[in-house]
Amino acid sequence: MLLRMMQFFENVGMSTGDAGAKRGQFDARVAANINVCREHFLLRLRVSHFPPSEPGQFVQVLCEADGGSEASEAAMAPAYPQLRWKPGMVPPAFHGPDLLGPQPYLRRPFSIAGRWDDPVSGYSEIDLIYRVIGKTTGRMAALTVGDNISILGPLGHGFSLPQEMTTALLVGGGVGIPPMIYLAKKLQRQGINALAFIGAQRADLIPLHIIGSVGLEPALNVREFTAFNTPTLIATDDGSLGQKGFVTQALQRYCRSKPQNGAVVFCCGPTPMMRATALVAAELQLPCYASLEQPMACGMGTCQSCVIKYRPAASEDWVYKLTCKDGPVFNTADILWQ
Ligand SMILES: Cc1cc2nc3c(=O)[nH]c(=O)nc-3n(C[C@H](O)[C@H](O)[C@H](O)COP(=O)(O)OP(=O)(O)OC[C@H]3O[C@@H](n4cnc5c(N)ncnc54)[C@H](O)[C@@H]3O)c2cc1C
Ligand code: FES
Repeated sequence: MLLRMMQFFENVGMSTGDAGAKRGQFDARVAANINVCREHFLLRLRVSHFPPSEPGQFVQVLCEADGGSEASEAAMAPAYPQLRWKPGMVPPAFHGPDLLGPQPYLRRPFSIAGRWDDPVSGYSEIDLIYRVIGKTTGRMAALTVGDNISILGPLGHGFSLPQEMTTALLVGGGVGIPPMIYLAKKLQRQGINALAFIGAQRADLIPLHIIGSVGLEPALNVREFTAFNTPTLIATDDGSLGQKGFVTQALQRYCRSKPQNGAVVFCCGPTPMMRATALVAAELQLPCYASLEQPMACGMGTCQSCVIKYRPAASEDWVYKLTCKDGPVFNTADILWQ
């Protein structure tokens, strides 16, 4: 029933969200699908007349690829043993086989990591960076140049840039790094200084190209951020690259040693990382905005599966907000973290 409702809203032009927002369903052609590091890929999609988008917005991907043949599942399984679906797995009788089968039923959300427009042809190239963790991402890893997939977007509200901001501190962890690259591009265009703090568990899980030596100070050593003149400070949990420890500790240390008056923190990553970033920002008395990666189904305000508790400043009462439609970007001071 829910699936039918969502397909209906997709087909009538996605009228469930903001009335004024421009977005739609697009056929996207794969222009590149590159293995950047362990389990992480850069997917470049060529799309015609994709509406304007902002950093922090996302697209919903439907990746049917080859229709989910057992052969392709078998080919992927050795490379990605963490895939939940295994060839030959028999679903329990009380579930429809489709629900546990290899075919992803619903679209999956991915942040826009970059965008290049060709105003003459009307084509845009949209970058997504994804980590292979399940059905859809497993299928995405098997895409080759020239394949077609369907995307819905751009969805949600992106990052707004406060007028009084002097410096932007971008904090990205794991698959939260992609929207920070797109944000660095926007900041450069607007002439705003930015510093990126990048965190991962280990060096081989950083989905970026390291082009210079990585030390304990921010430097132009990551290709994706250097392209937008943004120095980067890297932290890994095990110390295999950059500072040892969490990226939030790197942020805290840096800002304590070099106070960042007038700075604004923007973050995206796993929920514990964003919660910790919010605490550090509060301690430093800096505004902080997070792009939440709450699991989602419809991505456009229909299914109510992506709620968070939200309490705006000066209000006693909290309300539910939809991450997909009201966010995914929120002021962290207004979030009641679970
Ligand atoms: C707004 C938004 C932006 C996102 N941007 C990116 C991005 O740029 N790059 C990227 O790699 N991923 C991103 N994600 C996460 C991405 O949507 C999931 O990795 C994807 O849905 C997994 O699909 P799958 O079919 O491969 O895995 P599934 O088979 O659906 O799930 C595999 C396992 O992962 C868990 N899981 C799935 N989604 C999430 C989630 N959001 N949080 C925690 N656990 C989850 C499932 O519970 C399950 O255990 C984003 C999520 C949101 C909400
Ligand atoms: S994902 Fe359906 S309402 Fe947010």
